[in-house]
Amino acid sequence: MALLELKNLHVALEDGTEIVKGVDLRVDTNEVHAIMGPNGSGKSTLAYAIAGHPAYEITEGQILLDGADVTEAGADERAQQGLFLAFQYPYAIPGVTVTSFLRSAINAIRKARAGGVDDPVPVPEFRTELFAQMERLKVSRELASRYLNDGFSGGEKKRVEILQMAMLKPRVAVLDETDSGLDIDALKIVAGGVKELVGPSMGALVITHYQRILNYIQPNFVHVFVDGQIVEEGGPELAQELEKSGYAKWEKEKVA
Ligand SMILES: Nc1ncnc2c1ncn2[C@@H]1O[C@H](COP(=O)(O)OP(=O)(O)OP(=O)(O)O)[C@@H](O)[C@H]1O
Ligand SMILES: [Mg+2]
Repeated sequence: MALLELKNLHVALEDGTEIVKGVDLRVDTNEVHAIMGPNGSGKSTLAYAIAGHPAYEITEGQILLDGADVTEAGADERAQQGLFLAFQYPYAIPGVTVTSFLRSAINAIRKARAGGVDDPVPVPEFRTELFAQMERLKVSRELASRYLNDGFSGGEKKRVEILQMAMLKPRVAVLDETDSGLDIDALKIVAGGVKELVGPSMGALVITHYQRILNYIQPNFVHVFVDGQIVEEGGPELAQELEKSGYAKWEKEKVA
């Protein structure tokens, strides 16, 4: 039984336009899967559909988490079951600080795991963990007391996404272009943060345009995603090949 399994997944926009056109994918613990594909091919749509975004309708196929069908489950339920999505474009939530957002998210998950009974994380425990993770991910203390993503720089937003992942300790992490916009040092820190978490209790799906992050987080599998479908799969060498030759080969096949 896989940790995350997509079976013949089809996803459409609210107007009915089909964007994801039949994806089969299995992600297990200890595994890093990379998805690479051209702009507009549907990678973020796939990520949103996995996370349960209500604007993206699953019209066919299934999503299984630990063998349980979550195709119809809400985003909150999926998060409680260990799914995490780092957004390509993180949303700002003015009025909610990073710290209070994280504490609410952790407490919501703890409540669900305690069978619906409140089981808030003790504040000293939360603070110790938060400060340790912030130190590790080089997120400044000042950022934690600001409103989530409100006026954050591109790189700060991406680091805070990874801080969320580190605090929530998901089972499956989907990272949508978390590397875009990061400076070289931040890229190493973020990649290191992901690498440390991938193991017996977590697997990751890394959506990226660039081979560079994959130098730090060695993927076990690389999937080429064109026009809503996985058109080729391979190992890390495939990412290097893409860097050289791009997607023309598959895009031409599509036209033909
Ligand atoms: N909410 C939406 N409303 C209208 N069109 C949408 C919506 N979401 C996605 N699309 C369209 O679906 C297609 C796939 O978009 P998506 O964001 O999934 O691509 P992507 O592969 O993530 O691209 P990029 O590499 O640029 O991030 C695009 O043509 C996009 O304009
Ligand atoms: Mg995208």
